[in-house]
Amino acid sequence: MTESTASSATLALHPEGTSRFVRACLRQPVDRTPVWFLRQAGRYMPEYMAVRKHHTLLDICRTPDIAAEVTITAAERLGVDAAIIFADLLLPLTPMGLDFEFVAGEGPQVHTPIRSLQHIQALRTDRVDDLSYVARAIEKVAAHFAMPRPDGDRLGIIGFCGAPFTLASYMIEGGSSRNYVDTKKMMYANDGAWPLLMEKLNTVLVAYARQQVEAGADCIQIFDSWIGALSVTDYRQYCLAPSTDLVQRIKALGVPVIYFGVDTASMLSSMAETTADVIGLDWRTPLDEGWRSIGPGSAVQGNLDPITLFAPLDVLESRVREVLTLADGRPGHIFNLGHGIVPGTPVDSVIQVVEWVRQFSIAKHAPAHATTR
Ligand code: CP3
Repeated sequence: MTESTASSATLALHPEGTSRFVRACLRQPVDRTPVWFLRQAGRYMPEYMAVRKHHTLLDICRTPDIAAEVTITAAERLGVDAAIIFADLLLPLTPMGLDFEFVAGEGPQVHTPIRSLQHIQALRTDRVDDLSYVARAIEKVAAHFAMPRPDGDRLGIIGFCGAPFTLASYMIEGGSSRNYVDTKKMMYANDGAWPLLMEKLNTVLVAYARQQVEAGADCIQIFDSWIGALSVTDYRQYCLAPSTDLVQRIKALGVPVIYFGVDTASMLSSMAETTADVIGLDWRTPLDEGWRSIGPGSAVQGNLDPITLFAPLDVLESRVREVLTLADGRPGHIFNLGHGIVPGTPVDSVIQVVEWVRQFSIAKHAPAHATTR
């Protein structure tokens, strides 16, 4: 839609150059609920697997043309309102001096996991420029989506990084973990190792986020995927301050921050203390309850159970309606899953969810909610 044909109501909700995704992050009114999906480019999608046949995961991440193509293809195939850059949480480990690989069927493996203060002291924080391939990919995605779409909206571009706890857990455990024994031992040891690791990670992550923002990311999502492994007491004692430091330093770059974790029902109010603009909810907490814990000062993102995408369409539709009903058209809801899309998910169901969110949420936002500026 060009400016001359857009209705004034549409223009009011789409000031030039902004996107409904970014507006929702900032709890500004939108014409309908924006929607995107965690892991929207992944193994469930045949287009991704076609690329993956010829390249390893890390090759894709480190080749800006391919990373951009994978990002764009997924966003366009699904018709979502935001594109998350194709990268991986663990990429910053390499310039810090920790080598890792993805072992088929087993996930990431760090070759020499961190177990001592000396090892943390030896970690490098001065080679973040080695990650600039992610920024180059973002530039390509931003150029591709620079023009508004036919409905007047510009697609949001999401950069991301890990939170210090979740990244530290991979560095210390050497991979995925069940009980996080070595991570927690380092937290509790009180020998200066944990705070130093948090500080070094934040130095790297802020510089990495800066590269992404300068390249055109509209927003940064911080993945604290495994933070739910902690008690609220441990979260508050060992992770809230470093997470808050990271959130605030990324916000200072001038973009909204989404802070996401899984199994977080008991720690949502603490997570909100980080001052993240948006809190990502996992699927276990009803959205309205989660939002109450978070408080009205933050937007929320979520929180359909990704496995409902395998359900018959009538069940899936009722769950999509439920999430939208619990959000009740309040400014500051971004529709998403409560964790990433898993392999085997029917692509058509994902596309159908986008369509439903579009249809059902227009009714919620118009006209009473849309005019409360
Ligand atoms: O659209 C997107 O979201 C894709 C971009 C993306 C990837 N990883 C690519 C990827 C994102 C946002 C991530 C983040 C990530 N990476 C997280 C946090 C998100 C979450 O799920 O909570 C974590 C914990 C990682 C680390 C990681 N990467 C693991 C544990 C694995 C193995 C998991 C598995 O399913 O095998 C990966 C591999 C990975 N990263 C894949 C993709 C698409 C799997 C596909 C492949 O091997 O090609």
